[in-house]
Amino acid sequence: TDPSIIRNFCIIAHIDHGKSTLADRMLQLTGVVGEREAKAQYLDRMDIERERGITIKSQAVRMPWTVPADNAAGAEPGTYILNMIDTPGHVDFTYEVSRSLEACEAAILLVDAAQGIEAQTLANLYLAMGAELQIIPVLNKIDLPSANVEKYALELANLVGCEPEDVLLTSAKTGLGVENLLNEIVRQVPAPVGDPNAPARALIFDSVYDTYRGVVTYVRVVDGSLKHRERIRMMSTGAVHEMLEVGVISPEPMKAGELGVGETGYLITGVKDVRQSRVGDTVTLQHHGADEPLGGYDHPNPMVYAGLYPIDGDQYPELRDALERLQLNDASLTYEPETSGALGFGFRCGFLGLLHMEITRERLEREFNLDLISTAPNVVYHVTMDDGTEIEVTNPSEYPDGKIAEVREPVVKATILSPSDYIGTIMELCQNKRGTLHGMDYLSEDRVEMRYTLPMGEIAFDFFDQLKSKTKGYASLNYEFDGEQPGDLVKVDILLQGEPVDAFSAIVHKDAAYAYGVMLAGKLRELIPRQQFEVPIQAAIGARVIARETIRAIRKDVLAKCYGGDISRKRKLLEKQKEGKKRMKMVGRVEVPQEAFIAALSTT
Ligand code: GTP
Repeated sequence: TDPSIIRNFCIIAHIDHGKSTLADRMLQLTGVVGEREAKAQYLDRMDIERERGITIKSQAVRMPWTVPADNAAGAEPGTYILNMIDTPGHVDFTYEVSRSLEACEAAILLVDAAQGIEAQTLANLYLAMGAELQIIPVLNKIDLPSANVEKYALELANLVGCEPEDVLLTSAKTGLGVENLLNEIVRQVPAPVGDPNAPARALIFDSVYDTYRGVVTYVRVVDGSLKHRERIRMMSTGAVHEMLEVGVISPEPMKAGELGVGETGYLITGVKDVRQSRVGDTVTLQHHGADEPLGGYDHPNPMVYAGLYPIDGDQYPELRDALERLQLNDASLTYEPETSGALGFGFRCGFLGLLHMEITRERLEREFNLDLISTAPNVVYHVTMDDGTEIEVTNPSEYPDGKIAEVREPVVKATILSPSDYIGTIMELCQNKRGTLHGMDYLSEDRVEMRYTLPMGEIAFDFFDQLKSKTKGYASLNYEFDGEQPGDLVKVDILLQGEPVDAFSAIVHKDAAYAYGVMLAGKLRELIPRQQFEVPIQAAIGARVIARETIRAIRKDVLAKCYGGDISRKRKLLEKQKEGKKRMKMVGRVEVPQEAFIAALSTT
């Protein structure tokens, strides 16, 4: 394909501002997806995505588009190829966004006309500007009665440095303005530049494992071309493969003879080993290949760790394989084998944030048919002992016992955007979370931007939910890692019958330790059913017990409830009990239901 008719762009937006809806509307208008088969949110392929209504993985789709004569945008009439890369919008997935940006020349900055700019909009905009993309500002949802086009067009224009009239208006829902947007894309987005005669170079921006076809690699060709049956070389490893299939997504995979300059598409080499096709790597040809790889991507560091264990210990090898496959698809996931006294063999996994963790766990359970228990998540701590030894703690149970000189915890720089009515509420919340205010700016009369430094361990968990509920959903949050600072932290252990249960250990601030211990011990007393013997639950810091609860002994007799002689009812009860048993985990002699582990997780 002639690069001059190609336009590569992505859509960046805050969560729920309408990216996926707009993408679907474009697929429809360009005829790639017919009106009838237009499933809600075509691009969000994974079931979880559809259920949660959010975009996790980026997807690239090719759409042919004919610009009519006399179009209002003033674009050159003719037929073009638009390649759209849909990106996720949640703060945990910034890494995915930055990868897809590398494959585009422009970004549509989509803002909800009833909400205005949100913290995530800013973060993504800065990423796009950093990647030197052309920015096309668009206000969406202009059909909403609550839309305030004038106000937010001005906000948006100030932000990107254009005139308010240059801000495009759409309703992804009704389709209003979307054709014009497609024409504007043709006019404003630069055609890709590359040397068709140079040795082939293509950037891998995504890679997925397919059970039937092996690894499918998504690339953006920068120079030269990649043809069916040619032998390619991965520049970071030197591994050589034959291309069994080359194609484009539109919106289903379609074979193509070759991919040329500026094109995005996929490669299949029959490779089964997921480590052979690394996101960020450069693909070239085996013969007459390029010498210099394209600039890769920064590797993101995990921010939150948790242990993942199969409920059924026999599933350990399956969990290992599943993690290996997921990692190809998600380079930000890390894992290492780990053994827990309470939970057996599992993995300590690193995630970018809590949502990332939840979604990974859900994918493991659904796509790989695993039943998992996850431990309470924690951040990474660095401990200096009195004798100068340095210890990295990614699991609270590894927290050292000896004399500690200093503990350092990760902190983040957080930006909160909110209506100014909530300044007091937000300050109070951040104060409780040990935050330090660095500055505050008014974006407009009634909207402020507040900048805080906060411990990662405080905000990675329920901070966002609290912020949302305390501001009636109006505040938005973005944060980035900002080094470490010393903290007054202690490890709280939970003991059942005097035995510490490693899965429940947590590292918390000294002032919060007592409340944490009392709360968790109380919760566990309610969640762990009575056993044949008495079970004391203790919370302790080192040898010092800070809270205690007791589960009294009882002889469990479910049939006692059925005084009548109804045999089918009895059988039902017995079956129910059996069902319940399966979800129990033995800790020493004590049966702990899975819910207790989940509850421990949600209270951190
Ligand atoms: P993530 O994929 O989770 O980042 O969200 P998104 O930005 O893709 O948002 P999505 O397309 O899922 O839209 C969020 C909600 O806004 C959905 O309920 C849409 O139906 C609705 N929506 C999207 N565009 C419009 C619009 O133009 N007008 C109105 N009224 N609603 C819209």
